[in-house]
Amino acid sequence: MTTTKFHPEPYTQALTTKSVSYESPSNIALIKYWGKHGIQIPKNPSISFTLNNCKTTTTLSYEKRSEPGDAYELKVILDGKHKPGFEPKIHQFFGRIEAYLPFIKDYAFTIETSNSFPHSSGIASSASGLSALALCLMEMEREMQPDMTLKHFKQKASFIARLGSGSGCRSLEGPIMVWGEHADVDGSSDVYGVQYPYQIHSVFDHYQDTILLVDKGEKPVSSTVGHNLMHNHAYAASRFDQAVENLSRIIPILQEGDLDGFVTLVESEALTLHAMMLTSNPYFILMKPNTLHIIDKIWEYRRETGVPVCFTLDAGANVHVLYPEKDKEAVQEFIKNDLSKYCQDNRYIFDNVGNGAIKL
Ligand code: DP6
Repeated sequence: MTTTKFHPEPYTQALTTKSVSYESPSNIALIKYWGKHGIQIPKNPSISFTLNNCKTTTTLSYEKRSEPGDAYELKVILDGKHKPGFEPKIHQFFGRIEAYLPFIKDYAFTIETSNSFPHSSGIASSASGLSALALCLMEMEREMQPDMTLKHFKQKASFIARLGSGSGCRSLEGPIMVWGEHADVDGSSDVYGVQYPYQIHSVFDHYQDTILLVDKGEKPVSSTVGHNLMHNHAYAASRFDQAVENLSRIIPILQEGDLDGFVTLVESEALTLHAMMLTSNPYFILMKPNTLHIIDKIWEYRRETGVPVCFTLDAGANVHVLYPEKDKEAVQEFIKNDLSKYCQDNRYIFDNVGNGAIKL
């Protein structure tokens, strides 16, 4: 692993700006990251669609501290309101990244952030939020080190995002990202995400993802607790091997536009993720009855119409409904008529595959 390359060269320029803003999207894994070791090193490689509409917008303002102390100086503002409850997580993140971005001790930061999706939606904002913050910090570093290459900027921004949120390292670019070293994916790494480097069939252009908000409540298991369940898990070793194999299998599927292969692989990955939780110690059921109703309806619709719509899940009850753009009208009608009733307050979010973060 090449983490030493992320220790900065001496800075050559002074910082003259006072703030920087980025928006960064969420992403949905097709092959799931579940299990980590060390500091956010994945136990298996993963691949994801970058989303377009579900995103975090962050403005990072900074002022040089007159007397830098040991503790970081930072304030988190969410939707215009000071949220001290979010600050310990950022302090922990800063602790992890200080060796790579040593200037963070010298500044007092205000992090103003807002999400395009409702806070109570059950959609995790850590991937989009921490990737946006990582990019803002990297923009500060780039100003102090203007000869930094774009490649280094992207790799290091993803590396920094990973230290805050594993899956966040896959949010910076799109449409498809890979994180975790894999023999078949050139340039892949355990310490940062990379843009999927091979041909992608046009059927996946603007691929649709409608997120059905089945349960907006707090998740009963945090992602860190969840990942830790894979230590001493009876099926862990075979699961990690399976993810490696699935990543090899998805390459021709993406290249040939093999939607039957895609549907089978993606649904199997989602169910395997939940199977890992069902069989861990302690065990969890993160699906709700309505999650299963939705899955049933999707299968019935696919059988009857032949439309290659499928589902995936993250570590919660919400369902991501994935389908090609050309079937958008029919599937969205199906969602409104047959699936929305299983969502809390009939709520769902139309999204599609996007190209990653943008500097504002
Ligand atoms: C089920 O990235 O939220 O969504 O590394 O602890 O921040 P941390 O975990 P996180 O885990 C995401 C798990 C997942 C699958 C995935 O996105 O690959």
